[in-house]
Order: sequence, then structure tokens, then C-alpha cells
Amino acid sequence: MKPVLVSGIQPTGKLHIGNYLGSLKNFVALQDLDEYQCFFFIADLHSLTEDFNPKEKASQIRNVVADYLAAGLNPKQSVIFQQSEIPAHTELAVILNNFAPIGEMERMTQFKDKSKNQAGNINMGLFDYPVLMAADILLYGASVVPVGEDQVQHLELARTLARRFNAKFGKTFVEPKPILTEAKRIMSLDDPTKKMSKSRPQGCLFLDDEPDVIRKKVQRAVTDSGSEIKYDPERKPALSNLMSVYANMADVRMDQIESAFKGKGYGDFKKGLAEVIIQALAPFQEKKRKLLASPGIIKKALAAGNKKASLVADKKIEEIKEKIGISLD
Ligand code: TYM
Repeated sequence: MKPVLVSGIQPTGKLHIGNYLGSLKNFVALQDLDEYQCFFFIADLHSLTEDFNPKEKASQIRNVVADYLAAGLNPKQSVIFQQSEIPAHTELAVILNNFAPIGEMERMTQFKDKSKNQAGNINMGLFDYPVLMAADILLYGASVVPVGEDQVQHLELARTLARRFNAKFGKTFVEPKPILTEAKRIMSLDDPTKKMSKSRPQGCLFLDDEPDVIRKKVQRAVTDSGSEIKYDPERKPALSNLMSVYANMADVRMDQIESAFKGKGYGDFKKGLAEVIIQALAPFQEKKRKLLASPGIIKKALAAGNKKASLVADKKIEEIKEKIGISLD
């Protein structure tokens, strides 16, 4: 049996290149490696922890499935499913809550950040977000979880919960490890000290952005003093972030970028960067347009994936219930 890989993305609107380079692109690479049994899901329950419009949710869910398929995830190779369709996720989260001390939960950086961003809506779902995430992972026995750097602390909690549960009830869960990419933390185009994030749309490049929008956004991106194209995250954080986008979008090394732009300035580099992004996204955007025009494909992929995920999850939740003594069978 191949080791299990699990990851998910929230359906909260459009994906940006941080999501793509930190996670989705790697999902496809890892699927194609053929070394893991892959489960990729739409974290729709997690997406309810921020303000949302119920009229938009279904299309946001379909949109992430289209992103998955357009990026290259293949329902024949990977199980692609919707979190809320598998009740075992919520059941396990409720069970794991009893092993998650409030003090540990209060230390979660994402909870603290989001509490600042949505001060009027600091809800229990937001607080419990990492426990549901642990349930998503532990339910499938995942040993690896491809994510961006901002999720590493949540993975640590999943490991802690697994260890604690195993110590008390016998070996039940696998302790999962994160898989990070080189682009594990893409920064905002308008401020290289802040992570690219949907909560700062002005600093995002979205996967659906039209070529002209990409050109404009890249032209407007902040740069550092000086003019040399040199990767130096300490002294040139803004340029280095853009170079990281370039390298990962075009699959080239930093020294190749440096020699291609030797003697040239930021303006030339930005023009080149915009074209690299446009070119890299063109096949994705074309495929996604077609997929969204035939919603049957998305529906079918998800229905098949939900079935496969249920088989694994339902069996595991039964085992867990037996271990904690609430199963009467
Ligand atoms: P979400 O939808 O917020 O983010 C999806 C993925 O994108 C990564 N990411 C980034 N990577 C690099 N640079 C950035 N600026 C950047 N911004 C976001 C995130 O790290 C993430 O990998 N909590 C998860 C969803 C989830 C999940 C899970 C993931 C729910 N349950 C179980 C793995 C396993 C999240 O952050 O989604």
C-alpha cells in the first residue's frame, strides 16, 4: 500500500498564485509522482469560519474543483471530494476537541491573525479550525500533507493530537508531516512583509486574472532600492519575492533569471515576469473556462470522489468510536 497524502483548499473566492505555488502546483506534481495515494478535498466547512454569502458558496465550491482539474489533478489518480459530504470529518473533529486544550488552541497564529482581520466575527468555528483540519488529515491516515508555510503550525497540532490519542487508546492515527515547496510563502505584491492573502486582494495575483490585469499588477508591484536583478531576500525582499514567483512559474533557477536580466533593470524584469505568468497560466485558464462551461464534469468527479472518500472515512470513524468505547456493536 502506498503512503497516504491528504490536502485541501477552502472555497472562499478566487485562488491566488500563493495558493498555486505553495500548494496546488505541488498537489499535481505529487499526484504524478505516483508514490502516494492522494486525497484532495474542498474545505467547504472551513470556509464558513469567515463571513460568507450562501448564494455564492456552491459556485465557489465548483470553482475550486475546476481549479483542481484545470491545474492537472485527475479524478482517476486522486480522490477529489467535498469535505461536508463526509460526515466523519465533523464527527472526528468533535471527538478530537476533547484532546485539544484551549491554551494550545489560543497559541495558533492563524487564529490570532484572523481574529484581527475579522474582529466582528471571532467565532467558535475559527477557534476550532485547526482541530477540524486535524480530523481531515487523521481520518485518512495521511503521512504527508502538502501545504504552504502558514499551515505548518496546524500540522504540528494534528501530530500532537494523533500522539495524544494513540498514547491513550492505542495506535489509531498516523502522525502527518508537511510537504513544503520552495515557494512556501509568497508575499503580497504591494507589501513584501505581508503574506499574499485573499484578505489583502490588492496584493494578490489571481489565477483567473486576464493578461492585461497581470501586466498592470506586476508593473505596480513594489520593488526595493537599487536596480540590479539579484536574489537577496535580506536586502531585496520585494524583488526576491517576485523572482521566486518567476522561478516557480517558469521552472527555472534563480541564477538563470539573474543572468537573463544581467545589466537590465526592474522595469525589464517586471515585463519578463508578467509574460512568464501569463504564459504559465494560459493553458490552465483555457482548461478552466471549458470545465466551468460543462458543470456535469465537475459534478461527476466530485460524486465519484465523495463515494471513495466515504468508504475510507466511514471505516476509520467506526474504529475510532470502538477505541473510545462509544460503539455498542
Ligand atoms: P487555504 O484555502 O487558506 O489555502 C490553501 C493553500 O494555499 C497555501 N497558501 C500559500 N502558500 C504560499 N504562499 C502564500 N502566500 C499562501 N497563501 C496560502 C496554504 O498554506 C494552503 O496550503 N487550512 C487549509 C485548508 C485545509 C487543509 C486541511 C489543508 C483544511 N483542512 C487539511 C491540508 C489538510 C488552508 O489554509 O486553506
